[in-house]
Amino acid sequence: KQLVKTLYRETEKYLDQEVELSGWVRKIRSQKNFGFIELNDGSFFKGVQIVFDTNLPNFDEISRLSISSSIIVKGIVVKSQGAGQNFEIQAKEIEIFQKADLDYPLQNKRHSFEFLRTIAHLRPRTNTFSAVFRVRSVLAYAIHKFFQENGFVYTHTPIITGSDCEGAGEMFRVTTLDLNDVPKTEEGKVDVTKDFFGKETNLTVSGQLNGETYCSAFRNIYTFGPTFRAEQSNTSRHAAEFWMIEPEIAFADLEGNMELAEAMVKYIIKYVMDECLEEMEFFNQFIEKGLFDKLNNVLNNDFGRVTYTEAIDILVNSGKKFDYPVEWGIDLQSEHERFLSEEYFKRPVFVTDYPKEIKAFYMKLNKDGKTVRAMDLLAPGIGEIIGGSQREDNIDVLEERMAEAGLSADDYGFYLDLRRFGSFPHSGYGLGFERMIMYVTGITNIRDVIPFPRTPNNAEF
Ligand code: 4AD
Ligand code: MG
Repeated sequence: KQLVKTLYRETEKYLDQEVELSGWVRKIRSQKNFGFIELNDGSFFKGVQIVFDTNLPNFDEISRLSISSSIIVKGIVVKSQGAGQNFEIQAKEIEIFQKADLDYPLQNKRHSFEFLRTIAHLRPRTNTFSAVFRVRSVLAYAIHKFFQENGFVYTHTPIITGSDCEGAGEMFRVTTLDLNDVPKTEEGKVDVTKDFFGKETNLTVSGQLNGETYCSAFRNIYTFGPTFRAEQSNTSRHAAEFWMIEPEIAFADLEGNMELAEAMVKYIIKYVMDECLEEMEFFNQFIEKGLFDKLNNVLNNDFGRVTYTEAIDILVNSGKKFDYPVEWGIDLQSEHERFLSEEYFKRPVFVTDYPKEIKAFYMKLNKDGKTVRAMDLLAPGIGEIIGGSQREDNIDVLEERMAEAGLSADDYGFYLDLRRFGSFPHSGYGLGFERMIMYVTGITNIRDVIPFPRTPNNAEF
């Protein structure tokens, strides 16, 4: 039994040979004595043309096949006269496995992405989504390949956690308590000791704190797993469930962190461009005109670098009117990030050394006492795709920062231990996997790069 992909890649070898293919009818048209089926077998972005004629005993039945019917075809690979393909299959036998119901929603016309989201279970069968989700798979592999080739240890961090890494309080509670009859303490609060874990637990927002502990054992580690944020931001770039890649590197400062991030981004873009030729051609033609120019520009140039303070100056001096006024101390808004990466640097840019007030407690405090060794990578069209930092390695400073953030030392004892038993300079970052897919494919809504997206008021499928 053969796969369509093999026939495309090794056409010469299969010419005049008999093959057996199985898959789904994508298109069909027939005349009195012959007809054509475009068969999609899932192995390749393109389908293959099957030619059938009245020599087949079930010709009439085949002619009436509905779109998406499943069939098994035996036939000969022959050179094709048709434009756009080198070969086709002259059918000798077509077995119909199931005739699809006639109300199949994906008839051959253009559908809006909004509509396709309502049939997320069927949309991977379309050209666009078949390309997106194959790229998603290849990109995941490229990321593992990059880190494994560089000696990083893949670390699985827990999904259910008792700590809040980002300290932003945007967590999904995990509980087995009966919400209609919650046990209360004498003070009238929820008695979390009666809960499954005997304490309050949540879905993780980041594997970083656990990752740091393994960094102190293996030097260089990375995580790659799902993370969850109960942010009420209904935007095209936020999902409640998304995947994050979080490397953590020992004896490395922010500079080393940025070098790693830049090398990784370039490696995975190149890998996908090489391995997903057909899909990337499709995106370049139909989803983002100029995608190849954009990506080649990324590969061939150094990323921009600017401190937060310099970035504020650039924004103030740009003379541009922003909806959200710019002044030192603000958290950069999407419009500011876009201006910096799209109009000013015209390429991905690292913004570093943010005010400590707008960043997480674990980031290393700079000598100025006001800023921290943070770095965000802003990409044109997307905004922040990476957030990272050098970590605070001084236990006194860290304890102070935790107290400021209202975190109890009891919950983070394991984290403080790293600063007691061989503290070391270390850095890391989180890459938002979906945002990276959006950047590489040109897809503009995060809902269209996640098989079954989870966003506010939407947990279908
Ligand atoms: O900047 P963030 O919050 O950083 C962290 O979580 C750190 N603990 C990472 C680290 O240093 N190890 O998130 C990292 C990245 C963002 O840059 C963004 O790409 C993505 O995760 N991200 C989201 N992606 C989709 N939907 C959301 N709601 C996201 N929130 C963050
Ligand atoms: Mg961030």
